Amino acid sequence: MCSFQRENTKFVKIPRFFFSILLIVGFLTIVRSELPDQTTMFAINEEIGVPGWGVNSSDYCNWRGIVCSSNQTVEVLDLSSRWLRGNVTLISDLKALKWLDLSNNYFSGPIPTVFGSLAELEFLDLSTNKFVGSIPIEFGKLQNLKALNLSYNILVGGIPDELAALVELQDFQVSGNKLNGSIPKWVGNLTNLRVFAAYENDLGGEIPDSLGSVSELKLLNLHSNSLDGSIPEGLFAKGKLEFLVLTQNRLTGTIPELIGSCDNLSSIRVGNNNLIGSIPKSVGNITSLTYFEANNNNLSGEIVVEFARCSNLTLLNLASNGFTGIIPPELGQLSNLQELIVSENSLFGDIPESILRNRNLNKLDLSNNKFNGTIPADLCNTSRLQFLLLSQNSMRGEIPHEIGNCVKLLDLQLATNYLTGTIPPDIGRLKNLQISLNLSFNHLHGPLPPELGKLDKLVSLDVSNNRLSGAIPSALKGMLSLIEVNFSNNLFTGPIPAFVPFQKSLNSSFSGNKALCGQPLSSSCDNGDDQDNYTHKISYRIVLAVIGSGLAVFISVAVVVLLFMMREKQENSAKDIGIVDDSATSKPLITAGNIFVENFRQAIDFDAVVKATFKDTNKLSSGTFSTVYKATMPSGIILLVRSLKSVDKTIIHHQNKMIRELERLGRLNHDHLMRPLGFVIYEDVALLLHEYMSNGTLFQLLHENTKKPEYEPDWPTRLSIAIGIAEGLAFLHSVAVIHLDISSGNILLDANMSPRVAEIEISKLLDPSRGTASISAVAGSFGYIPPEYAYTMQVTAPGNVYSYGVILLEILTTHLPVEEAFGEGADLVKWVQSAPMRGETPEQILDARLSTVSFAWRKEMLAALKVALQCTDTTPAKRPKMKKVIEMLQEVKEK
Ligand SMILES: *[C@@H]1O[C@H](CO)[C@@H](O)[C@H](O)[C@H]1NC(C)=O
Ligand SMILES: *[C@@H]1O[C@H](CO)[C@@H](O)[C@H](O)[C@H]1NC(C)=O
Repeated sequence: MCSFQRENTKFVKIPRFFFSILLIVGFLTIVRSELPDQTTMFAINEEIGVPGWGVNSSDYCNWRGIVCSSNQTVEVLDLSSRWLRGNVTLISDLKALKWLDLSNNYFSGPIPTVFGSLAELEFLDLSTNKFVGSIPIEFGKLQNLKALNLSYNILVGGIPDELAALVELQDFQVSGNKLNGSIPKWVGNLTNLRVFAAYENDLGGEIPDSLGSVSELKLLNLHSNSLDGSIPEGLFAKGKLEFLVLTQNRLTGTIPELIGSCDNLSSIRVGNNNLIGSIPKSVGNITSLTYFEANNNNLSGEIVVEFARCSNLTLLNLASNGFTGIIPPELGQLSNLQELIVSENSLFGDIPESILRNRNLNKLDLSNNKFNGTIPADLCNTSRLQFLLLSQNSMRGEIPHEIGNCVKLLDLQLATNYLTGTIPPDIGRLKNLQISLNLSFNHLHGPLPPELGKLDKLVSLDVSNNRLSGAIPSALKGMLSLIEVNFSNNLFTGPIPAFVPFQKSLNSSFSGNKALCGQPLSSSCDNGDDQDNYTHKISYRIVLAVIGSGLAVFISVAVVVLLFMMREKQENSAKDIGIVDDSATSKPLITAGNIFVENFRQAIDFDAVVKATFKDTNKLSSGTFSTVYKATMPSGIILLVRSLKSVDKTIIHHQNKMIRELERLGRLNHDHLMRPLGFVIYEDVALLLHEYMSNGTLFQLLHENTKKPEYEPDWPTRLSIAIGIAEGLAFLHSVAVIHLDISSGNILLDANMSPRVAEIEISKLLDPSRGTASISAVAGSFGYIPPEYAYTMQVTAPGNVYSYGVILLEILTTHLPVEEAFGEGADLVKWVQSAPMRGETPEQILDARLSTVSFAWRKEMLAALKVALQCTDTTPAKRPKMKKVIEMLQEVKEK
């Protein structure tokens, strides 16, 4: 067969007319049998075993991930993300290859040096494999190479000087290896270079001054190496830099003044180095600056007032340096500032009130400085502070009762100051407080306010080392999330309330309070026999009180036990009836019910609906606001029954209103909405009835399907699901209904894989802004909640667009909205948004099993990714309307 090909190529040189004749004659015999890269492709397939390849044997140009030129030579070979292993050397026989992507597989061994002979290669991506050894010097022959990515392998040695010949290189990435040596000077001479990422290696030496003086460098990421020397001025000479990441090295010297000439620089991250000197005033010229992080250095001087001119600044982290002086009040002009972190410096003065007036401020960390004012009373008049960290300063005065206005706070740390007065009961209003409340090491006195018991999300409470007195209020048993407590070294008296988190604590959490007794302390409250010396000093009144309260506890426990026993008895007898009479006599007390849709009326039996929800085997899923059951009617019809969770009694009280709303929603006839068919109310439970959807939820389709790749939904299916959801939401918005809980778990799929937006009635029934129900937490499911909800607590149409954008990202990436792999505090949205910062292309974000199938799919997915990014814009006003989203996605489909 091989000889045929050779003959054929010889004949090409024969005069044209002769060739034409040969073509006609040979058409039937030759064309079907041999193509230029056939032997190679077969051999590659035999070696690597690419699933799906070779099915249409000779037609390798149609194999997945292959693009051929018009004369059937392979130009693009994309095998990314296919769980492949084996020897890839043979690929070097595809001499016309321009694009080779082997990223994200299990290829191992040394990188084949013969790849250096692929003279046409423009794009080479071997990242995220297990290649070992050094970077082949033969790569220097790839004169046309524009992009080289060798990141995340196990490569050692230096960056070879032979690569200096790659003058076309625009994108050069070698991060996440074990490379050592230094960054070669010639990298700076690559005039087309835009991206250079070599982070997470063992590179030492200095950053070459030439880097950035010739090239078009936009992104430089060298974090986590052993680089020393200073940050070269040259980096900023051309002024093109947009992202600069040099964190976690051993850099010394100062931050160059010239940095101010890069007005496109949006991210400067130079933390965890040994930088000295002050921040150059020129920083005020960097109008694009959004992120400035220089923590853990030896920087000094004052915080320059010029930062106030960087109007886009959202994060300023100067922690753990030697800054002195006050925080310039002008920083209050930074209306986009979300985080100001200046802990561990020598700053003093008052808490900057101008900054507290900033509406977007989310985190203020002034801890471990010398701030010496008082806590301002108008602390939270405007801001949406979630983190207020003022520990280890010299703050004086009382904790203002206005602290109760800081209702968004998650973490409040005021420890180790000189605060006086009592703990204001208003702290009980900080219902969102979760991470910690630390008031330790102050001069607080008086009793603990029982209102603390309302902090039912708080995990850590520390009031140790004050002069607090009185009993520990038993109301603290309301702190249902408590794990860590410290009441030590105060003047507390009386028994420690019987509350599991208390008794499970170390006794050191209660020690240093001479008149405190009971578990976990060794001094018991009611029995003086086995006690230490100091019990003798306890007055009779305390002993009496202790005994009294012990008795009271005993009596109330006894009553509870009695009640419990009675109830159990009743329940048992009820069960007995149920068993004896099967289901006929134990009818649930149905107080109301209706079916709105005429042709379902005869087929639905209310009793059967209610009973279906008693069986756990019928349970399908459990969402934020409801649990869903499958209910088979005696008529054979199957229903989805949604039991509203922890429904406030108000719903039942507003029954008529609720019924009107449901009927209205029942009339909303749209292909992509799950409208209610009817409802049943029994006792204080409300059940909503829907049609049963046989294909489960979008969540199940995307994330619970991994074992059966053949059921993995393809891109056209996904796109039409995305458009369907958008249509459903756009319709809802057009009738002024805002959805409360958009998530892939609330999108159901009918037998034709057509999506239906579910839980729309929840929006009407539990609308918090109307006060028809109390939702203490922000509405929605984790990962889908728009960032602004945390501040506004207001459910809006742009908020819905954001949640929709998250679903679209889920569809595009097949990732969950929240995954550990995204890193601390990051969700799917942040992970996608920060891809450029990590030096990743959009292609690396998309589900490669789909995006590599064809160029058409890839193109559509990239266009849809753009839509998703618009939908998830941090600024609500910048998000498109749902109607616009449909238009954009339709366009994606048609192109
Ligand atoms: C094989 O070829 C047929 C028709 O040419 C096509 O429909 C099919 O998708 C191909 N299969 C693969 C795996 O390429
Ligand atoms: C509270 O703050 C003090 C001082 O900053 C610290 O030592 C202590 O560990 C903190 N308490 C908790 C529970 O973290």
